[in-house]
Amino acid sequence: MSNQEMKQYDAPKEVKEIDVINTYELEEKASKIIPKGGFGYISGASGDEYTKQRNISSFNDKGILPRVLADVEYPDLSTSILNHKLKVPFIMAPIAAHGLAHETKEAGTARGVAEFGTIMSISAYSGATFEEIEKGLNGSPRWFQLYMSKDDELNKAIVDEAKKDGATAIILTADATLSGNRETDIRNQFVYPFGMPIVSRYLTGSGERMSLNNIYAQSKQKISPKDVEFLSSYSELPIIVKGIQTPEDALLAIGAGAAGIWVSNHGGRQLDGAPGSFEVLEDIAIAVAGRVPIVFDSGIRRGEHVFKAIACGADIVALGRPMLYGLALGGWKGVKSVLEYFETDLTRVMQLAGTQTIEDIKHTKLFKNSR
Ligand SMILES: Cc1cc2nc3c(=O)[nH]c(=O)nc-3n(C[C@H](O)[C@H](O)[C@H](O)COP(=O)(O)O)c2cc1C
Repeated sequence: MSNQEMKQYDAPKEVKEIDVINTYELEEKASKIIPKGGFGYISGASGDEYTKQRNISSFNDKGILPRVLADVEYPDLSTSILNHKLKVPFIMAPIAAHGLAHETKEAGTARGVAEFGTIMSISAYSGATFEEIEKGLNGSPRWFQLYMSKDDELNKAIVDEAKKDGATAIILTADATLSGNRETDIRNQFVYPFGMPIVSRYLTGSGERMSLNNIYAQSKQKISPKDVEFLSSYSELPIIVKGIQTPEDALLAIGAGAAGIWVSNHGGRQLDGAPGSFEVLEDIAIAVAGRVPIVFDSGIRRGEHVFKAIACGADIVALGRPMLYGLALGGWKGVKSVLEYFETDLTRVMQLAGTQTIEDIKHTKLFKNSR
């Protein structure tokens, strides 16, 4: 996109409840109303997009056995994580630049998440300030996701602000120290049309009109267990390490004091050729062995996927792209509609599978589908 086009970035504006038959159709509808560069950035992934596709298709490698004499009428979806009581086992994933999807930016998403009643993750690369997001959140729980600067004094200042804003955990994203090979963004000459107020102090520009490569190049490339130790002792908040794909990294993170493991491949946006995120979950859960909670994302599109992730060791899951499509189609009300869809769909799956509680799902053994 040229600068002229960026200035005219015309984000969707409508606020309305939306009908969600499934989240794939939301993507289709959103593609018609989000400007091309913005939609490419949200929906695109790296390389051949093999990993992005595997994120969804690998859920079919395992099946759920229906139990029909299980006496389940009203499944209970409630659970808890790191001292938060949740009515459903899903939260909002950290996502940059919601303003690409809707003019209300992160405040719109935050309101939908808060009105529904779950946790909002605030990305370091948000296009809105903490104050603006708070207008949507209105005191509702939030976690803060950090992309570290090379300068630890700046990291401390950002963590201080996130704490002051009321974050109850820090998500340290470790899988995006540089950008994956996102060919759609290169083709569209995509640059961010808005600034990044939270991290603008460590960018040579404000974040506005910068390409992904520029932005990532200015954040810290070397992330090690020492950073987990540093953040944990400085912030005195639980640190959840995001982007874990192997049992080895999970154990390193826990050894460094991580209070949670976030299994994710960034929605296939980083290393193409990596397995689907669901494929690596069970082995990581076995290694973690319940010492810290596990958050899972990448590819959650249906209640079945939430169920399968929990059956394979996740405590909760995070929703990514479908939430931005809901935001584009209906602002905060659209976001709430997407969350309600997941609630209804998971309830149905639990009932058909014969599970009353999230604990029952955790004790469900999936069978291996032969393909
Ligand atoms: C448009 C977009 C922006 C993202 N920005 C961030 C970010 O700022 N920080 C982060 O940790 N992850 C980010 N992610 C990754 C998400 O947190 C999550 O891992 C991913 O969306 C899961 O894949 P799915 O949306 O296909 O389910 C982003 C993902 C998308 C689609």
